[in-house]
Amino acid sequence: MKILVIGGGGREHAIIKAIKKSSLAEEIYALPGNGGIARDAICVDIKATDIKAIVEFAKKESFDFAIVAPDDPLVLGLVDELEAIGIPCFGPNKKAAIIEGSKAFSKDLMKKYNIPTAKYEVFSDLDETIAYLDHQTAPIVVKADGLALGKGVIIAETTEEAKAAVRSMMADMKFGESGKTVVIEEFLTGPEVSVLAFTDGKTLIPMISSMDHKKALDGDKGLNTGGMGTIAPNPYYTKEIADLAMEKIFLPTMEAMNEEGRTFKGCLYFGLMLTSEGPKVIEYNCRFGDPETQVVLPLLKSDLLQIMIEVSKGTLDQAEVEFSDECACCVVMASDGYPSAYEKHKEIFIDESINCVYVAGATLENGKLYTNGGRVLGITETADTLTKAIEKTYNSVSKIYFENAYFRHDIGKKAIAGMEEF
Ligand code: AMP
Ligand code: GLY
Repeated sequence: MKILVIGGGGREHAIIKAIKKSSLAEEIYALPGNGGIARDAICVDIKATDIKAIVEFAKKESFDFAIVAPDDPLVLGLVDELEAIGIPCFGPNKKAAIIEGSKAFSKDLMKKYNIPTAKYEVFSDLDETIAYLDHQTAPIVVKADGLALGKGVIIAETTEEAKAAVRSMMADMKFGESGKTVVIEEFLTGPEVSVLAFTDGKTLIPMISSMDHKKALDGDKGLNTGGMGTIAPNPYYTKEIADLAMEKIFLPTMEAMNEEGRTFKGCLYFGLMLTSEGPKVIEYNCRFGDPETQVVLPLLKSDLLQIMIEVSKGTLDQAEVEFSDECACCVVMASDGYPSAYEKHKEIFIDESINCVYVAGATLENGKLYTNGGRVLGITETADTLTKAIEKTYNSVSKIYFENAYFRHDIGKKAIAGMEEF
């Protein structure tokens, strides 16, 4: 089969490395891909959001199957457009991708179908929002309604900070149209768990759980990033919690989307917080998480491409989805300064002994890799225990060099502490 993958980050590299193992995959193209992906697929420099150019290219190349990985093209309706020209896709259509595209939609969905989440109010008028904030006690969670590159969530420590966040979104349009409507949410506490699930709208199969590390600095300090590392499985996510989440959150969400005429087919991402009242939804994403994918897919024993095809055909119940009993750790190596300003174009040296490097932001020039983004590489190792997986990963990280490389030193530490609690 001739496969098209949309996107160009570490997540897409992990997806491509996984589908390359499938006997069904003959040719793989990535749009736009990156310098690392170029070693595993044919990269063509078309942006993931350039829907028109992608559709033209896909028509010309007559692909057998497409995988749309990032949120923006999904929310823009790329799956609808590709399916209209006869290319089956893995990923939700525009109507279903709204589950990530609008936080107001997802909060209203959860309220309507009694899916546990933080209490909230939605506002489109600045004065009303400010008046409401006067009666709230901090910390207050402020969220832009639309997509904002993971930066649209502010945990305000004071009412003044919350007001400033709301003004920057609604008056200064910091996130453009995405911040015209805001969600003000109750602040929850508890360990966080990411669960990705395959679903075709009839069957839902959760993948192995994971834990993201979103803050830039050790000890969960500093700015929010796209994710600085992950471990899987997440030790806080016990069998009891998994059963509860399936019954109270995952299946009700799939059914709610069906009920709304928005059947979701693809990978549905549940960002959960394990509160004293049980698991609650912090966010939905309409796609694989990044860098969760870089620990989840290396543990998948089954044929990813086959599963994706079954999802798109609506026959997920026939797919074999099996994970190994091992643990995985992924440490993201970034350019120093990320998520603020950073320098690019530093040569990357990777020791030949390391086999699992996912490239997130690099270019390939005359056979050499150069940094070209905030998050540059994701290094993943697996082992029979989490402690060993973490040790192996940091050992591999120590064998990779580029000037100004920055990474967290405590990926998995909280998970290990969590294991000691049980
Ligand atoms: P999101 O982009 O929605 O994943 O939010 C980013 C991060 O903000 C989450 O991973 C949580 O750590 C935090 N967060 C979001 N909503 C809440 C909430 N209601 N209470 C506490 N923390 C939250
Ligand atoms: N790692 C969080 C996300 O992909 O949104």
